[in-house]
Amino acid sequence: MKAKITFNKNFVIDKIDNRLYGSFIEHLGRAVYGGIYEPLHETADDKGFRKDVLELVKEIDVPIVRYPGGNFVSGYNWEDGTGDKSKRPRRMELAWNAIETNEVGIDEFQEWTRRADSSVMMAVNLGTKGADEARNCVEYCNSNTDTYYVNLRRKNGFEDPFNIKVWCLGNEMDGNWQICHKTADEYGRLALETAKLMKMVDPSIELVVSGSSGFYMNTFGEWDMKVLDHTYDLVDYISIHTYYGNGADDTADFLSMSTDMDSYIKAVAAMCDAIKAKKHSKKTVNLSFDEWNVWFHSHEQDKKIEKWQIAPPQLEDIYTFEDALVVGCMLMALQNNCDRVKIACLAQLVNVIAPIMTETGGDAWAQTIYYPFMLGSRYGRGTALKTLVECDTYSTKKHSDVPFVETSVIHNEERKEITVFAVNRSLTDETELELFAENFGDVKLLEHTELYCDDLKAINEKDAQRVKPVNVPVTDSRIVIKKHSWNMLRFGY
Ligand code: AHR
Repeated sequence: MKAKITFNKNFVIDKIDNRLYGSFIEHLGRAVYGGIYEPLHETADDKGFRKDVLELVKEIDVPIVRYPGGNFVSGYNWEDGTGDKSKRPRRMELAWNAIETNEVGIDEFQEWTRRADSSVMMAVNLGTKGADEARNCVEYCNSNTDTYYVNLRRKNGFEDPFNIKVWCLGNEMDGNWQICHKTADEYGRLALETAKLMKMVDPSIELVVSGSSGFYMNTFGEWDMKVLDHTYDLVDYISIHTYYGNGADDTADFLSMSTDMDSYIKAVAAMCDAIKAKKHSKKTVNLSFDEWNVWFHSHEQDKKIEKWQIAPPQLEDIYTFEDALVVGCMLMALQNNCDRVKIACLAQLVNVIAPIMTETGGDAWAQTIYYPFMLGSRYGRGTALKTLVECDTYSTKKHSDVPFVETSVIHNEERKEITVFAVNRSLTDETELELFAENFGDVKLLEHTELYCDDLKAINEKDAQRVKPVNVPVTDSRIVIKKHSWNMLRFGY
């Protein structure tokens, strides 16, 4: 097969916000305890953070990490995770039926993000709590006044504010699984009043309002429009979430799921703009795609987990090579919509549906999905360009006219480089790529990195990295991408 990809230096989608390469740590399973934090681990640093995990996190360069949930946040009292560790309460954690020891809280997590060269994206509890706790949390984290919560932070050993810039107003509040889930009007009013107080305490923060928790929720659309109508003037982003799976074992269809992600983004952006028009507003509300990934492998085993354990192994999906292709395509959908998606969080980061796996007391290693994310994050910084892709298409039970080749093109002016990411969705044929880089002058292929495995179900284990990127020798004549492969082509000009 052949595919022709044309792009032009002047035909720009937008500059990519680096926060597109964010991630997520929830108090869930072994994400925190046994994941980022394990004081008795042989690599633990002075604060109990696993240095082997920190190294793997730094490699993928995540500028922002959402915390502490997720569903967890809707029953969370943020003060439980501050101050003297020996006095912190143990709680029944109702979102995931576990015991939360509160050994880690915002005091520790903000320090962990510094050590990971990252920053915190903080979520407040709009399930069991409300505006008062949220504004107190902003005061504790960001203020410098001689007042109760600032002095509490000082007493806890933190003279300087944490300066957390991005705050989520609750999580998935339309979902009936959510602790104290709400109607759109109940949530919209609460989010508005909470936003008001939080911005009074610190006007420099950015706020993310919870959109409906999925494209196929029956609340989708009406929820988003109502919630935006209530909060438009005070919020900066609306959150969207999606997880894909291949439960039906239909790989051709699974590989096409990123086209749904593209439609989802465009639909929510349209709703933001409809409310903008209705309100005659000059401000644009953008999107925070703050949970996205593949998630389905662990569903059955999670049903067997006993309640009220501390950090049980929950949502521990072991990812296959085909999952890595889907994650690669999803990241391209985000890059190609970077005019509207300013923040995105691969959900999650360690152990829980995550690119990084650990053994408690043992090793840490990269899952298959680690690699397209790592290279996308490292080389996908700059300006996303519009592409014209001419190639054959295919149809599945659920999708029609899916292009065999998915691509995104990023121009990095500083490095004088163009990076083309490309997935070949064909399960049988290699594809020869013809690239037309207009208005760049002479371009030269510097690197072709490929993620390929003959076995679509191959997984990585701690001592067997079967799926990892390799360099393909570069020639001047042809660029060929293998059947079902993820590729990165870096050009200089
Ligand atoms: O990431 C796992 C869970 O998925 C989150 O807690 C929730 O927000 C979503 O439903």
